[in-house]
Amino acid sequence: MTSNLANIAPLRIGLAGFGLIGRRRAQIAAADSRVQLAGIADPSPVARLEAAALYKVPVDADARKLLRRPLDVLLVAAPNVQAVPIAVAALRRGLHVLMEKPPGANLGQCRRLCSAAETSGRILKFGFNHRYHPAVARLAQSVRAGDIGKIINLRVRYGHGGRPGYDQEWRGQARLSGGGELLDQGVHLLDLLHWLLGMPDSVYAELQTAVWPVQPLEDNAFALLHYPGGAVASLHSSWTQWKNLFSLEVFGETGSLIVEGLGGSYGPETLLHHRRRPAGGPPETTSAEFQGPDSSWQLEWEDFMNAMQHRAPYLGAPAEAMAVMQVLDRLRSSARLRRRLPIAVAQAAAAAV
Ligand SMILES: NC(=O)c1ccc[n+]([C@@H]2O[C@H](COP(=O)([O-])OP(=O)(O)OC[C@H]3O[C@@H](n4cnc5c(N)ncnc54)[C@H](O)[C@@H]3O)[C@@H](O)[C@H]2O)c1
Repeated sequence: MTSNLANIAPLRIGLAGFGLIGRRRAQIAAADSRVQLAGIADPSPVARLEAAALYKVPVDADARKLLRRPLDVLLVAAPNVQAVPIAVAALRRGLHVLMEKPPGANLGQCRRLCSAAETSGRILKFGFNHRYHPAVARLAQSVRAGDIGKIINLRVRYGHGGRPGYDQEWRGQARLSGGGELLDQGVHLLDLLHWLLGMPDSVYAELQTAVWPVQPLEDNAFALLHYPGGAVASLHSSWTQWKNLFSLEVFGETGSLIVEGLGGSYGPETLLHHRRRPAGGPPETTSAEFQGPDSSWQLEWEDFMNAMQHRAPYLGAPAEAMAVMQVLDRLRSSARLRRRLPIAVAQAAAAAV
């Protein structure tokens, strides 16, 4: 009887960071009867006023104060570097945590987060929402079903055009962001590559600061990743992509699968499947367009709820985040040393756990 009641009591949700993404999370949580939005923290007085007006919940300037309130779950949508100690403190207090990407600014921070989750036994999910975009999810399913044969190579690109004054925003300041465009949008691409192909065995990267005065951060990241079995992936993420772009192209021995767009300013979300004809010539092509509002956030939320309520396996788990950040760290080293670097076998094995 008691455990039944415990099962239906709404989970009390706290939210740290009421910016673009925090607002999106708050909206979803507030509309879900299985949970109760129970507090918000943001150091910005404007954000706090808006949060208080929209949601009748306690609003704090400091996330540490929010964490002293009775909560079951914390959603962390603060700038990258501030997000880490908040998420770690929440896990230590026994809360489940949904933390926006990236999983820390570097491998050390990711490890700190993951070991706090392991010690607490709570769910730690990282917000790699792109996996829930319908075209991306369908592509992954099709690749796994063998629809294009053995993967031979991939080309992944993501970018937007930044804006004047970007260097004054948190993303343009190393002490707040912990990394440039490789970390910001590139981490989504690295997550998708890892999801599709697992761990590379060697990587090469070049980082460029071409337009925005964000040094020591980069506004463009280029990478080549080599996989056991011979597949090669090229990655370009950019803050100088003057027209927003998302493109995920997977080439197999018998065809290719291509996602273009994510909806909104990234253009219609489409999935193309080209099937190579044995006799050559233009491929047989099928296409699908996924219209309507971006459903990835809601689907990600359902995955998180399912993990918390039923201990179901979920996407964006600590082991996956560790693998992604190992690759990202290696890419940074490669760019610094200006050479291709192996991913140590021990690292790859640890990441696969
Ligand atoms: N999954 C995605 O596609 C996606 C997209 C954008 C951003 N993000 C991630 O979401 C996070 C937030 O990004 P955003 O675009 O919402 O940024 P934002 O600038 O719109 O909002 C950040 C908010 O955090 C607040 N903040 C600053 N320090 C804080 C602290 N110590 N405690 C609590 N709040 C604090 C700021 O005042 C601001 O209101 C980042 O980690 C970012 O990488 C993910």
